[in-house]
Amino acid sequence: MYRYDEFDHAFVNERVAEFRDQVGRRLTGELSEEEFRPLRLRNGLYLQLHAYMLRIAVPYGQLSPRQMRQLAMIGRKWDRGYGHFTTRQNIQFNWIKLVDVPDVLAALAEVEMHCIQTSGNCVRNVTSDPYAAAANDELEDPRVWCEILRQWSTLHPEFNWLPRKFKIAVSGAAEDRAATAFHDIGLRIVRGPNGENGFRVLVGGGMGRTPYVGQVIREFLPKEHLLSYVESILRVYNLLGRRDNLYKARIKILVNTLGIEKFREAVEDDWNATVKVGIDLPDGEVRRIASYFAPPDLPERAPRDEALAARRESDPGFATWYRNNVLPHRVPGYVSAVISLKEPGRTPGDASSDTMDLVADLAERFGHDEIRVNYTQNLVLPHVALADIPALYDALAEAGLAVGNNELLGDMICCPGLDYCNLANARSIPIAKEIAKKFEDPARQDEIGKIRVNMSGCINACGHHHAGNIGILGVDKKGTELYQITLGGSPKDDAAVGTIIGPGFRAEKVPEAIDTIVETYVENRNEGESFLETWRRVGAAPFKEALYGAR
Ligand code: HEM
Ligand code: SF4
Repeated sequence: MYRYDEFDHAFVNERVAEFRDQVGRRLTGELSEEEFRPLRLRNGLYLQLHAYMLRIAVPYGQLSPRQMRQLAMIGRKWDRGYGHFTTRQNIQFNWIKLVDVPDVLAALAEVEMHCIQTSGNCVRNVTSDPYAAAANDELEDPRVWCEILRQWSTLHPEFNWLPRKFKIAVSGAAEDRAATAFHDIGLRIVRGPNGENGFRVLVGGGMGRTPYVGQVIREFLPKEHLLSYVESILRVYNLLGRRDNLYKARIKILVNTLGIEKFREAVEDDWNATVKVGIDLPDGEVRRIASYFAPPDLPERAPRDEALAARRESDPGFATWYRNNVLPHRVPGYVSAVISLKEPGRTPGDASSDTMDLVADLAERFGHDEIRVNYTQNLVLPHVALADIPALYDALAEAGLAVGNNELLGDMICCPGLDYCNLANARSIPIAKEIAKKFEDPARQDEIGKIRVNMSGCINACGHHHAGNIGILGVDKKGTELYQITLGGSPKDDAAVGTIIGPGFRAEKVPEAIDTIVETYVENRNEGESFLETWRRVGAAPFKEALYGAR
């Protein structure tokens, strides 16, 4: 993983000292909340319903055990013993006291972490595939390019006051596990005409109140030009993006107002006029950064393990967990393991400090010291020897963490909603818990198969509801919480925004409505058909009939 050099350390420490001074002045009243607001937001500190919320960047979702233990310590010492992993692969603490924030930032700096650019109209944390360097369908490690983008975008003088926030995701595998089509810029590493790797560049995707799937601005960009090309996109956006209306300020609005052809023309013109030397990194520098991401030494092992196979036969709980939470690895005899943070009855994405400590231990024992945060709000150990899987499972089971629902219905994505967020219209966590209860039976979830259910507490769509196969959006209708359901969204290669199926449901009716939708799918599906395939084949009618027919 990338290691800070002296410059990075000095820079982050200076930022901590600067913010300590600003917090001090706020606490004495020298700074008003209005004056303090832009300063705190520059450091990822939000003021929410009940308390301050601190958003910590986890670059491309990668954590070392040491960093995870430090997060556990922060949760224990300065929060309420837990943190919330988010769909942008970050972690948020919801109960931080202002007076403690400088100490929290200092503790983060010790382990080479910070909160810079986790808020504000700048380039935010670059997200990526949680199985980078492990997946067996990977063309190239995307983290190298995430890190290059991170270094380039951090305090970039031209792009620190964009019209609005800016989110980039990079994927280097055949399957898109980073929802690249729902980002301001989505980068897919692809093979070019001469067999060399480069980027397919998507632009203008996003969620929020006006969801759009990103459009291809360039089918193939040679890798060496990534920075200059991204810079041209940002320059055009910075110049032409709307600053008069908060709701129309994202790049997706510009791209869709101009049309992709005109937007492309403006970007290509800028790019062709740009002197690229000094922006694009020389080959040696790319290689230097890539060297930080050398995968761990994984001596080849037997691709089959007899003890594991026997355990799958004798222990149905283990068999379910294995089937859903263990993914193939590029090296024979290894796998990636998903640690689900979606135990029924718990807040999706929350992890206690004890869980964080345990995951750090397990990463050291079984996972070659690597942990990833998945955008579906779970944790991943990317490199585990197949033979260690039963021991890993036992350790997780002892802590109540062997939840075998990865990508099943119980693996819901959910934003904080009205329990924490001051923009919320409705609760989302309690509804997610009720749905989880309705589908508690693991056998039923298994029978339903893979399905993505996402929920947001307001139209800002932090819970990716637009991209859910089933999306749930909390709205406020004359003081009553109502939940609007969308069907047919997808965050993957067949990215799509879900369609509203009909009138919303009251909170207590939502689990039943989800049940009806799922049953309609199961009744209508052909052998092996996914929810999306069935939805696309049969259309909305049977779902509408099942949900509203009797009305
Ligand atoms: C509780 C404090 C939070 C606040 C105040 C907040 C605010 C917002 C706002 C205003 C938007 C809409 C942006 C736009 O359309 O221009 C947004 C989008 C988004 N947020 Fe949050 N959010 C919060 C928490 C979260 C959490 C916990 C997550 C992850 C679970 C998250 C992830 C996202 C994502 C993925 C989007 C949609 C993608 C996009 O279009 O940018 N946010 N957020
Ligand atoms: S979707 Fe709305 S309620 Fe949920 S976290 Fe985002 S801003 Fe808050």
